[in-house]
Amino acid sequence: MDQISIKDLSFVPLIPEDKVQSRVKELGEVLTATSRDQNPLFISILSGAFVFASDLIRAFDGHCEVGFVKISSYSGTQSTGNVQTVMGLEKDLRDRHIIVVEDIIDTGRTLHYFLNHLKARSPASVKVVAFLRKPDAVQYPVEDALVGFDIEDRFVVGYGLDYDGLGRNIPGIWQLSAESAAWLASTERELH
Ligand code: IMP
Ligand code: MG
Repeated sequence: MDQISIKDLSFVPLIPEDKVQSRVKELGEVLTATSRDQNPLFISILSGAFVFASDLIRAFDGHCEVGFVKISSYSGTQSTGNVQTVMGLEKDLRDRHIIVVEDIIDTGRTLHYFLNHLKARSPASVKVVAFLRKPDAVQYPVEDALVGFDIEDRFVVGYGLDYDGLGRNIPGIWQLSAESAAWLASTERELH
């Protein structure tokens, strides 16, 4: 298949399933080498990262624990700007080795906020692994992140990532087609 449609947009292949899977295995090996004796706590940011996280923990060869957080942003008053909250982090993080699992670093804003939140809870160490990163769009750089693939700044779906709730179950990564990108630009709509 060389094109899929989701609602009003079309997508073309970017990273096929076999490449996704072999890269996740490599990331698992890197984390095994650095963290296998630390009983790390993988913290996956919902919803997008749950597919990546479920493969990644099985590529990690050692004991580990898994937790999930939901970060919601909402518009505050004009002075507070965009406010974010973290939900679901009940575990004691003191002296734990944390591995934050994210689907994609776009602006980096979500991770930047979450990393500050984590640091206040005195973990022993914090690592970040992101399956994708859009280098042109990083407004809040996340230093030392382990990254699966750097991609161009164009909207993608699949492997946990959605367009309007759809597409998370697609096994590979698909990119917005040039035609849809041009059409979207003409409507001045923004995708999230
Ligand atoms: P950031 O805070 O700008 O780095 O945005 C991160 C979040 O935006 C990710 O966790 C995704 O949920 C969402 N996101 C960013 N780019 C894409 C994309 O191309 N496809 C689907 N979701 C995206
Ligand atoms: Mg989304």
